[in-house]
Amino acid sequence: MSTETQAPAEKQRVVIFDTTLRDGEQSPGASMTLEEKLQVAELLDEMGVDVIEAGFPIASNGDFEAVSEIAKRVKRSVVCGLARASGADIDRAAEALQHAERRRIHTFIGTSPLHREFQLQLDKDQVYERVVSSVTRARNFTDDVEWSPMDATRTEHDYLCRVVEAAIKCGATTINIPDTVGYATPDEFRDLIKMLIERVPNADTVIFSTHCHDDLGLAVANSLGGVLGGARQIECTINGLGERAGNAALEEVVMAIKTRGDVLPYYTDIDATLLMRASKLVSAVSAFPVQYNKAIAIVGKNAFAHESGIHQDGVLKNAQTYEIMRPEDVGVRSTSLVMGKHSGRHAFREKLVALGFDLGDNAFEEAFRRFKDLADRKKHVFDEDIAALVEDEMAQASETIRLVALTVIAGTGGPQKAIVTLDVDGVHQTKEAVGDGPVDAMFKAIRSIVPHEATLQLYQVGAVTEESDAQADVSVRLGEGDKIVTGRGADTDTMVASAKAYVSALNKLVTRRAKSKPEALRAS
Ligand code: KIV
Ligand code: ZN
Repeated sequence: MSTETQAPAEKQRVVIFDTTLRDGEQSPGASMTLEEKLQVAELLDEMGVDVIEAGFPIASNGDFEAVSEIAKRVKRSVVCGLARASGADIDRAAEALQHAERRRIHTFIGTSPLHREFQLQLDKDQVYERVVSSVTRARNFTDDVEWSPMDATRTEHDYLCRVVEAAIKCGATTINIPDTVGYATPDEFRDLIKMLIERVPNADTVIFSTHCHDDLGLAVANSLGGVLGGARQIECTINGLGERAGNAALEEVVMAIKTRGDVLPYYTDIDATLLMRASKLVSAVSAFPVQYNKAIAIVGKNAFAHESGIHQDGVLKNAQTYEIMRPEDVGVRSTSLVMGKHSGRHAFREKLVALGFDLGDNAFEEAFRRFKDLADRKKHVFDEDIAALVEDEMAQASETIRLVALTVIAGTGGPQKAIVTLDVDGVHQTKEAVGDGPVDAMFKAIRSIVPHEATLQLYQVGAVTEESDAQADVSVRLGEGDKIVTGRGADTDTMVASAKAYVSALNKLVTRRAKSKPEALRAS
């Protein structure tokens, strides 16, 4: 079996650039609160991510605030802010990053014929001039400047060489090659990086980087192809979160490099045992569930579950027969029956620490109260139950609209009815509604307390663990104009979990209304 066959010293290092908080957060419905972004950034830092792209500071006050707070808190990773090729964007990014220990400005412009002609309405020389002025301006603020030719994979090679050469001449230290629309194939992407390194003068003085989108399901393969072609930075996101089909998944590139050292003689500084925690955290704060059979089965729920008799037999005799990675390598603990209703505060706190949660006193007391309540209702309380409960509590802590009480009348007789009490800014309000099923009735009652025009785009129910007394894990996505938000809720009562998820999405919608991000300022 091919695991680490060479010492890292003989391998070349690949820089991991995480853009979960920028490209990932731009994914419709994945917006995160400031507190959530800080939690993710702190975990990425602890995990050994080299560069954290924390946001797009000019896009909104919320993005600016997130980048500057992350810049103040993160101690080890380089903190990066995105900027278009304009003076105002670059100055705003520099301002947001001013307190970072180590900062990077990432500036970009579309270079393909489609982007030049239709989006920018600039000719080749005008785009070239913008490259020169933007990289030069960014270098006034930091000597760590990354430059990207957006839609590089559909840009004429001669022109791409010309603009990359200009960016290097003006002081860019990382040249990132985006496959913005996820169009490339692995060989093609490897050859593109190779071509640039061979043809562009002084290419050996910079780091080439990959930034691959997953529209054809090739983002990870293309990123690894790019590394084989000479790139030494991969841009990626936790769970592959990102625009449209998403970006290359960090956990997949890291484990591919770690597991296949025989054909990929590279290493990263990522502590892979934190991958599971990062995946769960990002899934919880973005409310994007991780698919059960996630590609290369690293962090998905079924990753190390073997159903078929032949597989089980092999794994029992020698796990390597069907597992190329050990669960503990990526931080998966075997599911354990954790505690029951007799467990005390001390044991509960120890369990939270083991699960990676660090709660303040008030949040701890509330989580403990909910744990006791859960243990009364549920026969077996697993690690996953506690994680879902705490994540649910953390999500609700900053919300101004909260579910207080819910009564639902459901069944074959009809009409189905819901009576909902919400706490809105400290005031309790109760409304009832009938609907086409209990969920419809409940959502109508919520809408009559907090009127809004948003439409329900997704309603998804999952179970946190097995057995019929498992907690329900519900995701609700709401869309209002160009704003899309997702909320999540967990409870042993599916209707309560649904109401919490709806209310959580509503809270995000209210926050998003206040901090609107113009559509034109999105970058893929
Ligand atoms: O996909 C893309 O082209 C981007 C750039 C801003 C790097 O995200
Ligand atoms: Zn992108």
